[in-house]
Amino acid sequence: MGQLQERYKKYREPQKFMEAGVYPYFRAITSKQGTEVEMAGQNVLMFGSNAYTGLTGDQRVIDAAKAALDKYGSGCAGSRFLNGTLDLHVQLEKELAEFVHKDDTLCFSTGFSVNQGVLAQVVGKGDYIICDDRDHASIVDGRRLSFARQLHYKHNDMEDLERVLKGLPQDSIKLIVVDGVFSMEGDLAKLPEIVELKHKYNCSVMVDEAHGLGVFGKNGRGVCDYFGLTDDIDLIMGTFSKSLASIGGFIASDKDTINYLRHTCRTYIFSASNTPAATAAAMEALHILQEEPERIEHLWDVTKYALKRFREEGFEIGETESPIIPLYVRDIEKTFIVTKLAFDAGVFINPVIPPACAPQDTLVRFALMANHTKEQVERGVVALKKVFVELGIIK
Ligand SMILES: Cc1ncc(COP(=O)(O)O)c(C=O)c1O
Repeated sequence: MGQLQERYKKYREPQKFMEAGVYPYFRAITSKQGTEVEMAGQNVLMFGSNAYTGLTGDQRVIDAAKAALDKYGSGCAGSRFLNGTLDLHVQLEKELAEFVHKDDTLCFSTGFSVNQGVLAQVVGKGDYIICDDRDHASIVDGRRLSFARQLHYKHNDMEDLERVLKGLPQDSIKLIVVDGVFSMEGDLAKLPEIVELKHKYNCSVMVDEAHGLGVFGKNGRGVCDYFGLTDDIDLIMGTFSKSLASIGGFIASDKDTINYLRHTCRTYIFSASNTPAATAAAMEALHILQEEPERIEHLWDVTKYALKRFREEGFEIGETESPIIPLYVRDIEKTFIVTKLAFDAGVFINPVIPPACAPQDTLVRFALMANHTKEQVERGVVALKKVFVELGIIK
């Protein structure tokens, strides 16, 4: 047996939970990603999805993807830089730029590769990159790949951010990178304060709108728009894998920054372009988002209802202000047991344990979609209350 095999023979963390019958990962779904999904022949209420706009099963999105598949085939067989650019990609980049009110955008094949590639490229030796402690893994990886000096501050703690900025040279490039909506806890970045500090200390700011797009701002333009700060934010990143019912991502910025990234960003140039079907699906979802503002209104209706009901029932839900509702458990093993018992009761939720959160902050993540009904939310709340009480997490 080789050295690698010797080392990984000892990696038995997942097996511990499998043996206990509470392993919560890679559960196979055998239907579309809707408010109810089919799993192992059972109907399960889906509160683990990131499809906030509820468009993944929308017939118009599916038809747009099918039409693109028929017209362009199944893949592009190359990167955007060389043979992989379709008129569809160019059109979507144009529409996204108009949507988020920036000069230009670039579309990538995943949201992860946007952060990973852009951050590695946009700052370098002699620059500084400053992140919130709870930023997404893709931001952390992009930060690690850059040659900039890496700094971070305590989650949403503006005093700590100022402490970090104070020590940096006024004329150096300093990029602050934040999740607009934090993906596990559902709270928002304090963008008004961050922008104030940006101006005070001569920094640039990048906002990851993965969970803000389709949820906040006019027609779902995101949290930068919600705070009226789009012009103050230098780079806006978004994904297609949540509200845009597809897969892929984009970076939006001024024309010179985009021109630079278009010709240098490694995950853009050295990776195949997004599939025709995924690109067309994202574009159709973007159209629907703008044509049907009532979807977002309904999302907020059920979100407010769920927030109120969880609070009434005594759940600890933290500082969330979004359709992402963290239900704190504060114990890894119990977090898996909650997930399992909820699933047995027909409710799908996601367990969140380190490294996605601090060890003392484990939780189950309950997320809403625009097509959830209050009756479905109520069923979820009642089932979860029973589980939380049974395990002594709440009274
Ligand atoms: C905040 C944030 N940024 C980036 C990503 C990566 O996006 P994608 O899943 O489209 O690759 C995610 C996805 O989980 C995310 O939550």
